[in-house]
Amino acid sequence: MEATTLPKSWNIDQILDDLDQHGFAVIDDVYPHDYVHQLVNECTSNLNRFREAAIQNGVVSNIRSDHILWINENLDIAQRHIDTLKQFSQLLNRYFYLGIKDVEAHFACYNAGEFYALHRDNPQNKNGRMISTVYYLHEQWQDDWGGELHLQDKNNLWHTLKPRPNRIAMFQSDLLHEVLEAKQQRLSITAWLRSDQAIL
Ligand code: OGA
Ligand code: MN
Repeated sequence: MEATTLPKSWNIDQILDDLDQHGFAVIDDVYPHDYVHQLVNECTSNLNRFREAAIQNGVVSNIRSDHILWINENLDIAQRHIDTLKQFSQLLNRYFYLGIKDVEAHFACYNAGEFYALHRDNPQNKNGRMISTVYYLHEQWQDDWGGELHLQDKNNLWHTLKPRPNRIAMFQSDLLHEVLEAKQQRLSITAWLRSDQAIL
């Protein structure tokens, strides 16, 4: 797939520069509204299938309380988002030699009171996750609803990013971050651009 089909709203030079300088970037007005609505519908119509993210292989952790649904080819609206991220990965590979080969993704739902405590998505380069991306798809978000992404950049400066609708926050997967407690239902797709094959 060719990088020329990335959404026109993406300022590629700015994104690459921000990733280079700070280790993270934010894109707003990511997709046209008709696609956003389809994506929201696909997410909300599947909410009854979301599972507690804290339980993995029967082991319960207390660092997160959100609910997730892994995205496969049956979720074809979300699959188009993954295709866009795959195109974007080719660009990252050309500029930063990241060797991204695959994208794995899940929907996430944080209900009021839910959070994800401080963590890294790829501590000490233990897995193939190179870049983490989070796309926010609730219909609206007010400034006092919490749920911010609190992120330490590659120069050790902290940033508080609001989960604004139709926004992508992306960052190096080795950076420390957390999701502050949400006061309303917070919907997103987390996707990791990986240098190895994702096992789903
Ligand atoms: C994650 C994560 C951040 C966010 O899913 O690993 O840190 O803003 N998400 O949802
Ligand atoms: Mn994370």
